[in-house]
Amino acid sequence: MTKRSKSSGRWLERQRRDRYVAQAAQQGLGSRAHFKLKQLDERFKLIAKDAVVVELGAAPGGWTRYLATHAARVIAIDILPMPNIAPNVTVLALDVYSRDFDAQLASWLGVRKASLVLSDMAPNISGIRAADQAATMDLVDLATAVAHRHLNRGGHLVVKMFQGEGVDAWLAARRKEFDRVVLAKPDASRAQSREVYGVAMGFSGKADPCLAAESEV
Ligand SMILES: C[S@@+](CC[C@H](N)C(=O)[O-])C[C@H]1O[C@@H](n2cnc3c(N)ncnc32)[C@H](O)[C@@H]1O
Repeated sequence: MTKRSKSSGRWLERQRRDRYVAQAAQQGLGSRAHFKLKQLDERFKLIAKDAVVVELGAAPGGWTRYLATHAARVIAIDILPMPNIAPNVTVLALDVYSRDFDAQLASWLGVRKASLVLSDMAPNISGIRAADQAATMDLVDLATAVAHRHLNRGGHLVVKMFQGEGVDAWLAARRKEFDRVVLAKPDASRAQSREVYGVAMGFSGKADPCLAAESEV
């Protein structure tokens, strides 16, 4: 087999990436983030027509646009403000670390729990790898705690993370709570990036006691 040179590998990767960027521009989708969610949805059938979705880290709205046309209701949350894009979308400018986050989300959800919790949240990157990984896994744990409190039995959780410390422990803990748990890397995610998505399907309704105890503090 011929070994591919580093520069031809980089060229192929650039072409692949540019394909998604060009498609996003042509279709007015803002960014290629849209394709990551589309590919995850096509592979795992995450979004039913009657889905109620809590989306964390929604700005600038690539995923939200996809969700608006595939789900019944979307609560799109980000620290950064973003415009509302459809009548079935509620945009909330909220920090997931804020004290009243849970109460606010509960009041917007009302009696119906979510069928899907998505997190594409990412911290501000400092360049110090260990610190960035810890900050990312902190957001992952917060998103997981949101799922514990607001996800329906049978619902799904998808969280962005970066390959490294904490990922295996997260997968092991979720396997105690969900029917099926996998790590997925959509084609639209850059090959050189450590970005992956933890996909947990079929929530049992019971949280792993360790994380549940932590999130009560
Ligand atoms: C990669 S971007 C999300 C892109 C988005 N999924 C899209 O398709 O356009 C990550 C987002 O996470 C948000 N974020 C980071 N920390 C957050 C926090 N503590 N609370 C809410 N949002 C946060 C950032 O403001 C940023 O908009």
